[in-house]
Amino acid sequence: MPQKVRKAVFPVGGLGTRFLPATKAMPKEMLPVVDRPLIQYAVDEAKAAGIEEFIFVTGRGKVIIEDHFDRSYELESVLRERGKDTVLDELQDGIPKTGSVAYIRQQEPQGLGHAVWCAKRFIGDEPFAVILADDLILSEKPCLAQMMEARDELGGGNILAAMEVPHEHTSRYGILRPGNDDGKIVEVKHLVEKPKPSEAPSNLAVIGRYILEPAVFDLLENQSRGAGNEIQLTDVLSSLLKTSSFYGLRFEGTRFDCGDKIGFLHANIAFALERDDMKHEMSEIIREIGSNL
Ligand code: UTP
Repeated sequence: MPQKVRKAVFPVGGLGTRFLPATKAMPKEMLPVVDRPLIQYAVDEAKAAGIEEFIFVTGRGKVIIEDHFDRSYELESVLRERGKDTVLDELQDGIPKTGSVAYIRQQEPQGLGHAVWCAKRFIGDEPFAVILADDLILSEKPCLAQMMEARDELGGGNILAAMEVPHEHTSRYGILRPGNDDGKIVEVKHLVEKPKPSEAPSNLAVIGRYILEPAVFDLLENQSRGAGNEIQLTDVLSSLLKTSSFYGLRFEGTRFDCGDKIGFLHANIAFALERDDMKHEMSEIIREIGSNL
């Protein structure tokens, strides 16, 4: 069995400019899908995959994420007085155990690669997961748990979550060049950040779930800025795959890009339709809107 993945990094230091003005004073990761903030889904997914330590790379204006994962004694006592025990239990279950959460400030949002590098001292010399909360995945088995299983089958290595995208959309994603491919797990030969459709090596895109070996930190240390003048994680991963085994997992589930307005609205509808307390009313609303189009 490969070394266990115990720690997850949640990069939440970005500015969320595509969602302004909503994200001027509120972190993008706190936007709710139905009634839970995006970051709560990410933490729950990590817990379901056996993660024991939660490392948030935050930035200015992100302290409410820390408050969200803290106890709120006043609120808890009011809920208790009012007999709202189910909500209270849910709130308490959502908080990782005391001592298992760390926050690091990324003083300047220099890109995802830089955000991951900021977690170096907390990770040390062991494999770790990275979850981007704005990539929300609706699936029976949580995506990170699927990746952990694939890693156990493979005996270790770096694993990325991969999905097929329309060929004309390759310039929105990191795209991989596949090697051996059994239809579920695909060997990654090369990675290209946001290639034009004519230059894309495939239509298999990398989305915001990674399991990485700690060797990535040495490369991040010396990484220069790439696209958008940011330190890009994809650039570093393309160097790492020259020396380490690298795989993509075609996960089961639907991914929503909640950093984008349409993706976020789509996620809200899809998640509401999954809920027993909402699906009938929601379907009615969709039918009514559809019939007026
Ligand atoms: P995005 O590429 O979506 O960037 O980051 P962004 O700044 O959050 O949003 P836009 O594009 O301006 O609207 C993907 C993830 O990486 C984190 C973000 O918080 C998000 O979870 N990130 C990005 C950092 O933590 N630090 C950075 O410097 C950049």
